[in-house]
Amino acid sequence: MKFFVDTAEIDQIKELNDLGMVDGVTTNPSLIAKSGRDILEVTKEICDIVAGPVSAEVVATEADAMLVEGRKLAKIADNIAVKVPLTWAGLKTCKTLSDEGTMVNVTLCFSANQALLAAKAGATFISPFIGRLDDLNMDGLELIEDIRTIYDNYGYETQILAASIRSANHMSECAKIGADVATAPASVIKAMANHVLTDKGLAAFLADADKAGIKIV
Ligand code: E4P
Repeated sequence: MKFFVDTAEIDQIKELNDLGMVDGVTTNPSLIAKSGRDILEVTKEICDIVAGPVSAEVVATEADAMLVEGRKLAKIADNIAVKVPLTWAGLKTCKTLSDEGTMVNVTLCFSANQALLAAKAGATFISPFIGRLDDLNMDGLELIEDIRTIYDNYGYETQILAASIRSANHMSECAKIGADVATAPASVIKAMANHVLTDKGLAAFLADADKAGIKIV
C-alpha cells in the first residue's frame, strides 16, 4: 500500500519523505488555509520535494470554472493530481481532465455508487473518507471493502485512496482490505511505530544494559 501524507506543512512532508515513507501528498482547501500559504506557491514547493502524485483541490463548483482551475493547477508540475469533489460537475471535470492526460483525484466519496461513477469518469484516484463516516457511527472500512470488490469485479484501474484516516489501526485495516493508497496526517503515520510492548521491552533491555555496564562506543 502506498502512503500519502495528508498535509500542506513542508517540514512534515520533508521529514517523512527523507525516510522514504511518502509516496505522494494530499492537500485540501482546509489544509492549505491552515498552512497560511498561497495555494500555488506551497503546492509547487511540495511538488519539488515529492516525486509522487500531489493532490491540489479546486474550489469552483461549476464544471466550466472547475476545469479552468484544474488546468491551472495541473500546470504547476507533472506530478499534480487535480482534486475535484464527487458532484456531477466534479465528475464532468474529471472526465475532461483525465482525457487530457491529467491525474484526477475524486474526493469526498461516501458511497460505493459514487466510487463507481468516479471510475467510469476515468478518475486516477477515488478518495473514500473513512473517518468522517466513522464519526457518524457508520462503517468507513466497510466502504473501502465494497469499493475494492466492485473495482476488482470489473477491472477498474482507479486507485482506492483511503482518506480521512484517524488512527494507525485504520492504516493496517486498509492494507488488509487492499486499498491502493492511504493518506494520513504525519502524526498517524508516526503513530504506526508505537507499541506498548516495544516500550516495555526496551526499558527492560536498557535497565539490564545499565546494570551490566554494557557500552558499545
Ligand atoms: C483527503 O484527501 C482529505 O484531505 C482528508 O483525508 C480529509 O480528512 P479529515 O476528515 O480528517 O479532514
